[in-house]
Amino acid sequence: MSTLSPHPRVGIVGATGAVGGELLLCLEQRNFPLASLRLFASPRSAGRSLLFRHAPVPVEVLTEQALAGLDIVLFSAGSATSRQFAPVAVAQGAVVIDNSSAFRMDADVPLVVPEVNPEAIATHRGIIANPNCVAIVATVPLWPLHRRNPIQRVIAATYQAASGAGAAAMEELRESTVAYLAGREYAARVLAHPYAFNLFSHDTKVDPATGYNDEETKVMREMRKIMGQANLRIGVTCIRVPILRAHSIALTVEFADQVTPEEVRDVLASAPGVRLVDDVAHNHFPMPREASGQDDILVGRIRRDVSDPSGRSIALFVAGDQLLKGAALNAVQIAEKLVG
Ligand code: A2P
Repeated sequence: MSTLSPHPRVGIVGATGAVGGELLLCLEQRNFPLASLRLFASPRSAGRSLLFRHAPVPVEVLTEQALAGLDIVLFSAGSATSRQFAPVAVAQGAVVIDNSSAFRMDADVPLVVPEVNPEAIATHRGIIANPNCVAIVATVPLWPLHRRNPIQRVIAATYQAASGAGAAAMEELRESTVAYLAGREYAARVLAHPYAFNLFSHDTKVDPATGYNDEETKVMREMRKIMGQANLRIGVTCIRVPILRAHSIALTVEFADQVTPEEVRDVLASAPGVRLVDDVAHNHFPMPREASGQDDILVGRIRRDVSDPSGRSIALFVAGDQLLKGAALNAVQIAEKLVG
């Protein structure tokens, strides 16, 4: 790994998108020690500028030449853009932190959640992949438990927000909800099904051979890679719900040895990036509204999985901001480790 300047020149590709906006905010709020910031988007955004540290920064149209002279480039403009432009940025001397799925499963690309496998950052050869949002939200609380008592099997059901499908899907949720309440027809533009007061199987295609959709396959593969557990038994059902920006996940976890809810609570109480929200008396558990805008993953509903008589399984419920820890914050934390 080449040494990076402690004050790098930073670029954001996809700066006008839902994650791009949060990248700007994270860099600003965390006082990232950058020397300069440049922003890139498609020709649709030509002429726009975005505020960073109270000053307007012009949005440049992304071209190969425009990526010269940068030390770190944060990509969040979809897989096709990453595939085309990330290698160009690397060839011109930058380290790329890529939020798309383009390179995540490549053997020579580290897939990093800083609370889980920060050591993988040092193995990069130009590109570091930011994982799928569900994989991040799930592994942050599961990792400290796994360190204590190895996880054998995970069953997960997700409740995924609009933000995972981008800014246009968030707008579709707002607009279709207003239309529904006004009794007006709404023609969906982004998602294939009516979104207001509805939920549906994740909008990626199902592989007829396995019965799993692309999102589910990504989550399963990526969790194994991040946790370094190639044989982890895991099954996932991914569902899109009418929530703006936080994903929730119901998790059933089987450990190697017997475990109690108290032990799980103890471990999670001091786990980095986790906040316990497990107030049985008031029926107050993780909620996407409360997770929105928060850095931490909220964890609660911690209880024995009574379907496993061996006493080795626990059920829990988690919620995390998809745009922050599920995307922008995780990427900026990787960048902080790079310059740290
Ligand atoms: P633009 O706003 O100009 O379309 P989201 O995930 O919220 O949909 O955002 C996608 C981001 O990726 C936006 O900033 C979008 O820019 C950008 N983007 C999409 N396609 C390209 C492209 N071909 N080149 C550069 N940026 C792109």
